[in-house]
Amino acid sequence: MLCRKCKTKAVINLPQHNRAFCSPCFTDFLHTQVIRGIKAQNMFTKNERILVAVSGGKDSLTLWQILLHLGYRVDALYVDLGIGSYSEKSREKVNRFTHDVASRYESKLHIHTVEEEEGAGIKDLANLLHRPTCSTCGTMKRYQFNRVAVQNDYDVMATGHNLDDEASRLLGNVLRWQTEYLDKQTPHLPASVEGFARKVKPLYRLTEREIATYAVINKIDYQVEECPMAKGSKMLLYKEMLNRLETESPGTKQRFYWGFLEKQATARQQTTEIVDQDRECLHPCATCGQPTSSEICSYCKMMAKAKTRV
Ligand code: AMP
Ligand code: FES
Ligand code: ZN
Repeated sequence: MLCRKCKTKAVINLPQHNRAFCSPCFTDFLHTQVIRGIKAQNMFTKNERILVAVSGGKDSLTLWQILLHLGYRVDALYVDLGIGSYSEKSREKVNRFTHDVASRYESKLHIHTVEEEEGAGIKDLANLLHRPTCSTCGTMKRYQFNRVAVQNDYDVMATGHNLDDEASRLLGNVLRWQTEYLDKQTPHLPASVEGFARKVKPLYRLTEREIATYAVINKIDYQVEECPMAKGSKMLLYKEMLNRLETESPGTKQRFYWGFLEKQATARQQTTEIVDQDRECLHPCATCGQPTSSEICSYCKMMAKAKTRV
């Protein structure tokens, strides 16, 4: 198997693109895919300040590295959820990347430690609230990502969601016909109202396998373990199903998710619709001021409930 570009020995075959690449050409290919995604979705410019949420996993550390390499102004945020040794190891990986790579670009790391700031780790909070850990965690992460981005005047907040994440989420939303979620499943969510940061997913064109290969080739030292709470989740099942389809019919994930994006209204119309809808139904939370559709936002409700149960 030879590299499509330089004809030396290839290290990865990409049947969905009908191409194989050697390490340097594959790295270039992924950079080009990220640039294409950023441009196609009008995500950000070189003058804007980006905050990337890093979990210590391959996707978000790769995203941080690629944005630094491409010359973007980017800092990072790690939310320490207090999930025992999993969180400790993840934090170590993020700190190491910051020290070894990001510091050369003068890119800095913000850390939010849930146990210190909210008074309990995410599992204890979930137990107090009788809520599943993953949904408590989702509320916490969404809230903190937005808060840190807005309070520190970042123009945009980026996450490492990849094509596998987006295709499996789309499958889940379609299976349950959750149209309100479908409308917002785009790699670029505008900052519709005061207090909301713009949110983007620059890796939406890349598969998990491509990102893992990039991370290995480029010696990114990442947390290999999945969160222990995710075991048996529906998302993992959808990912497995899509991987089976992908093996039988390469390009399935790409056709499914990119096809969905094409079918959505044109980016401009869609952005206008999201902004209009949000302006109609969102207002500042009476407790913290972050935009919400209720009187009190879900984070503040969650924390108030947790406090009454301590
Ligand atoms: P996940 O929901 O674990 O698939 O993660 C999706 C994206 O959310 C990652 O690529 C990161 O950008 C971000 N993320 C997940 N967990 C954390 C965390 N603990 N701290 C900061 N960012 C995170
Ligand atoms: Fe949130 Fe696992 S990362 S529960
Ligand atoms: Zn609030």
